[in-house]
Amino acid sequence: MTDCKMLIEEALKAREASYSPYSHYRVGAALLTKSGRVYRGCNIENASYSPTNCAERTAVFKAVSEGEREFAAIAVVGGPEDGEMNYAYPCGVCRQVLFEFSDENTFEVITGTGTEDFSVFKLKDLLPFGFRL
Ligand code: THU
Repeated sequence: MTDCKMLIEEALKAREASYSPYSHYRVGAALLTKSGRVYRGCNIENASYSPTNCAERTAVFKAVSEGEREFAAIAVVGGPEDGEMNYAYPCGVCRQVLFEFSDENTFEVITGTGTEDFSVFKLKDLLPFGFRL
């Protein structure tokens, strides 16, 4: 079973690196490989807005670029820089990117405000009928 609290702790650490001077919304993600490694990611914004990368995709792209392709779970934490954490659900684009590299029936998405308040979803339930060639 996924160690959700450990993964949320990792996501909270990842969030410390968030570069979000435009939205002031800081997101951290921690992606667990099937082999037990964790890749962290944060949102990285841009003055031109559209090149902004979400925390989840940063984590996936870091992992895939290191040769990883088999993932078990991701934890996501987010909230405004000067306010309380809220439930940050992966956006539609990130769901499709996670779908590319996972078995949607088993891959878990964990979101919450911290280690004492979180929910766990199967990717299949967040993205039914994702696209595959
Ligand atoms: N963001 C993420 O990092 N992950 C999501 O799933 C949703 C949105 C970021 C993008 C942008 O930097 C900020 O949150 C506000 O949209």
